[in-house]
Amino acid sequence: MPDLSVGLPGLVMHNPLMLASGVQGGSARALQRVAASDAGGMVTKSIGPVPREMYPGPVCVEAMDSVVLNAMGLPNPGADVFAEILSNENFSKPLLVSIFGGCAEEYVEVAKKLDDAGASAFELNLSCPHSKPGSRALIIGQQAKSIHDVVSAVRDAVDAPLYAKLTPNTTDITIEAKAALEAGADGLSLINTVSAIEVDPYAGRPVIGNLLCGLSGPAIRPIAQRKVAEIALSMRRGEIPSAPILGIGGINTGLDVARFVMLGASAVQIGSALIWGDVEKFKEISVELSEFMDLNGYRDISSMQGIALDSLEGLS
Ligand SMILES: Cc1cc2nc3c(=O)[nH]c(=O)nc-3n(C[C@H](O)[C@H](O)[C@H](O)COP(=O)(O)O)c2cc1C
Repeated sequence: MPDLSVGLPGLVMHNPLMLASGVQGGSARALQRVAASDAGGMVTKSIGPVPREMYPGPVCVEAMDSVVLNAMGLPNPGADVFAEILSNENFSKPLLVSIFGGCAEEYVEVAKKLDDAGASAFELNLSCPHSKPGSRALIIGQQAKSIHDVVSAVRDAVDAPLYAKLTPNTTDITIEAKAALEAGADGLSLINTVSAIEVDPYAGRPVIGNLLCGLSGPAIRPIAQRKVAEIALSMRRGEIPSAPILGIGGINTGLDVARFVMLGASAVQIGSALIWGDVEKFKEISVELSEFMDLNGYRDISSMQGIALDSLEGLS
């Protein structure tokens, strides 16, 4: 059988399938359920400096077949409570602790607390509003300078591997990728949700309590693949530093994983698909991936990685 294992900074995994942040990763119990599944690794719900409540509902709806809209409001127990969870629990799978803040100092505060509690690697969720007055409309991940400030501040504060999670809601994602990697990120995770809005025509107002929301699920997979390809191509050309990419967005089958890997991803994360398939999805997807690789003569993940980029080489 093909070898599905991958070894990346902070992530030595028996397969490339990880739990994406925000879906089932908010408590010790939920993380232990995922650890007991066939997932190769996990990302926690994003943890901030203080506890946060959920936005008023509805916070998550399936607007059309396989089209997921959410605006949860980054609900989380806060860094102090999560530090206790990390100190008390042993997880049998590699864990990226997802963190966020309103500015570089808040990211550092959260990273230090969780690093002291035993976090072995971090994912920096850069898709949250900038707390500085007058800049609320922009999120940190939409400004290369803010990305650089956050990543380099956390880099200076902790030794653990850092993955910068990028938003697709920018003009040229290679600019944000470059900022994160030059500031010391060990890898990139992409994409977070795509900016969206949906209206209930009977009510005459948006369907999500927060009005504005993010789109995820199979509808965004080709968008995510394009972003991964743009960054991987830029790395191949030496325009930005090379680093592992964790592909995220609409992954629901083993073939979807192969698509991301062929475009340059080293591993993937799975979120919305668990809404329909729960943690059994990891087993289902890994069996499909293994069968696909076996039938098509791929002995391991690296023999498949980036092969679809070859046809993009001539693009200018
Ligand atoms: C209900 C829900 C909550 C999410 N919460 C977070 C979060 O706390 N932090 C984060 O970085 N991404 C969060 N995301 C984004 C996912 O991690 C992922 O990037 C996105 O949903 C695309 O992947 P998917 O199509 O497999 O869901 C959330 C997504 C959903 C659907």
